[in-house]
Amino acid sequence: MTIVATAPRLGHLERRTRRLPRLLAGAADRGPAGLNQHERRFGALPLPEAAWNGDRAAARRAASRLIAEVERSGLAGHGGAGFPTGRKLRSVAAGAGPAVIVANGSEGEPASHKDRLLLLRAPHLVLDGITLAAFAVGATEAYLVVHGTDSRLIAGLEGAIQARDVAGIDLVPIQVVGIGDRYVASEQTAIVQYLNGGPGLPTFAPPRTHERGVANRPTAVNNIETLAHLALVAKYGHVWFREAGVPAAPGTTLVTVSGAIERPGALAARRRGGHHRTRASGAPGAQAATSHQDEAARRRRDGR
Ligand SMILES: Cc1cc2nc3c(=O)[nH]c(=O)nc-3n(C[C@H](O)[C@H](O)[C@H](O)COP(=O)(O)O)c2cc1C
Repeated sequence: MTIVATAPRLGHLERRTRRLPRLLAGAADRGPAGLNQHERRFGALPLPEAAWNGDRAAARRAASRLIAEVERSGLAGHGGAGFPTGRKLRSVAAGAGPAVIVANGSEGEPASHKDRLLLLRAPHLVLDGITLAAFAVGATEAYLVVHGTDSRLIAGLEGAIQARDVAGIDLVPIQVVGIGDRYVASEQTAIVQYLNGGPGLPTFAPPRTHERGVANRPTAVNNIETLAHLALVAKYGHVWFREAGVPAAPGTTLVTVSGAIERPGALAARRRGGHHRTRASGAPGAQAATSHQDEAARRRRDGR
């Protein structure tokens, strides 16, 4: 594994490689990137005209091209199982009725803080990914799921969504939902059951989420890092995405480094041949990512 960028030293690394910006571009800056800053850094949301002008046939063709681009990129899920993202979007798009996007930012693994860091520092990259995924599958609504106790994160995300509403750039409403911070509550059938008004516990049972999930509609549950990568694939293309990593594991991945080390943090890493090399460097946002323990607010659910 080779570290291509760390949050605090990114500016230096950007000068060293033309492959950036990837996910942590600008993450060394304090605070979240605002919409203008985000667009300067990564470019505008690349939605085609057909997404807005009511030409449904053209929109369907453009959505299929976007999914094909994601398939060609080899992007696989960053939520744990590594499921091919393009294949998931394709099956949700083929489902019956309008679909739903669920962005899983609930990061139940106690030692992992990479999703929270990304949401804090680059909320618009994740929101771009949500909107693009919604366009790809023909979704009419989207949920961004985080820990309900994390009021700082929720406030930041709601502010970012508000800025996008004012700018009129998102296709579908995106609602931030706070769930319990138990590990199992982050599993996709648990999230879907929770969004459907039940307990936040896994069902692990049919029907499968991509066929009948939220409100019995075809539902794509994607990790928020996956969606941020998807946004970059849509902006820069699959060839760019594959410039990092190896054919079987293209792109970069965020990893949390913690424990008995000098500078814990989050790193962007890529696989390189058979060799693994790591170099840790601190990411202050990742350290701040450890404060969600308010049991009393576990069941907070925004607007539902
Ligand atoms: C016990 C358990 C906990 C999980 N926790 C998370 C999590 O914190 N974040 C996440 O994105 N996926 C988590 N997953 C995986 C999700 O169920 C789901 O597969 C994932 O969000 C899909 O996103 P991806 O395709 O982008 O990987 C968990 C799975 C299990 C079985």
